[in-house]
Amino acid sequence: MIKTINSLKKTINSFSPKNKEDLEVFRIKYLGKKGVLNDLFLEFKNLPNEEKKTIGAVINDLKKAIQQKVVDYSDRFNEVVIDSTVDFSKPVRLNNLGSRHPISIVKNQIVEIFNNVGFNVSDGPEIEDDWHNFSALNLPEEHPARDMQDTFFIQTNPDVLLRTHTSSVQVRYMENNKPPIRTLSPGRVYRNESISARAHCIFHQVEGLYVDENVSFIDLKETLLYFAKEMFGKKSKIRLRPSYFPFTEPSAEVDIYWGLNNEDDYRITKGTGWLEILGCGMVDPNVLTNCGIDPKKYSGYAFGMGIERIAMLKYNITDLRMFYENDIRFLKQFSSI
Ligand code: DAH
Repeated sequence: MIKTINSLKKTINSFSPKNKEDLEVFRIKYLGKKGVLNDLFLEFKNLPNEEKKTIGAVINDLKKAIQQKVVDYSDRFNEVVIDSTVDFSKPVRLNNLGSRHPISIVKNQIVEIFNNVGFNVSDGPEIEDDWHNFSALNLPEEHPARDMQDTFFIQTNPDVLLRTHTSSVQVRYMENNKPPIRTLSPGRVYRNESISARAHCIFHQVEGLYVDENVSFIDLKETLLYFAKEMFGKKSKIRLRPSYFPFTEPSAEVDIYWGLNNEDDYRITKGTGWLEILGCGMVDPNVLTNCGIDPKKYSGYAFGMGIERIAMLKYNITDLRMFYENDIRFLKQFSSI
């Protein structure tokens, strides 16, 4: 047996494959399941014990030599051809990771805050009809409050318009679901406004709607206070000012206390320390009726807020246009949030 092994050793040492395929044939011939080495081990099993020690060591050496040959040549055949025009000493340039848009970040935060107290998320179309955007919300044709929101109409068909607020989703949701209703509708809205640091023709709102038996104004106030604390910090204070919206009665505007610590605070709060963040109220019984809900049995509250406004307050952004310009230097600042 020693003789066979020695002659195998010679063959292996002198073997030099020309390419990968040659090497693979060699590997299978010697190391394969039915290969030469396997046969040797089978033979080895039947040897008398006193021979096993020496022969075992020799077979192992042979095995190592074969394996080494395979490794050496596969390295050689897989060698990377180095392109001499590439400078490998250059520092690595990291891939640019994208980031969420600040509007999406704030929208997700608002959704999460209300999710935690049982609100689901709903949506509706951006191209709306008069009924869902106006009439069902207690804004019949010729109602003067329609002028509060400058609307983009399709010229040939005044029944088709771009929704001016996400309150339209309230209507759709109530038409299709029975109370109890707790839903939040974020989305894009459109108004025919000239573009400035404080106004844009496209922006985003979140609408909230809660309808059940015995819903009261105090539920609304507590929910909004909870929201302000989650969004702006535990010390946040809010105040409600009486206001008017056709779809709620009574209606209110909600301010958050911003503080008066420096000149900027005086400027943005017009010297009051308070900043308006949303509109709200108890859903007008007419709206409930329009949507097929009995106002004698159910009551509800609704609120609507601008996402840009919340984002501007939260991140100290002074110009609304920044959100739509896609300036990478602006967007990059939100990559860690
Ligand atoms: N839709 C109003 C707007 O766009 C915001 C609003 C106010 C929504 C009061 C409401 C509400 O649900 O109750 O200005």
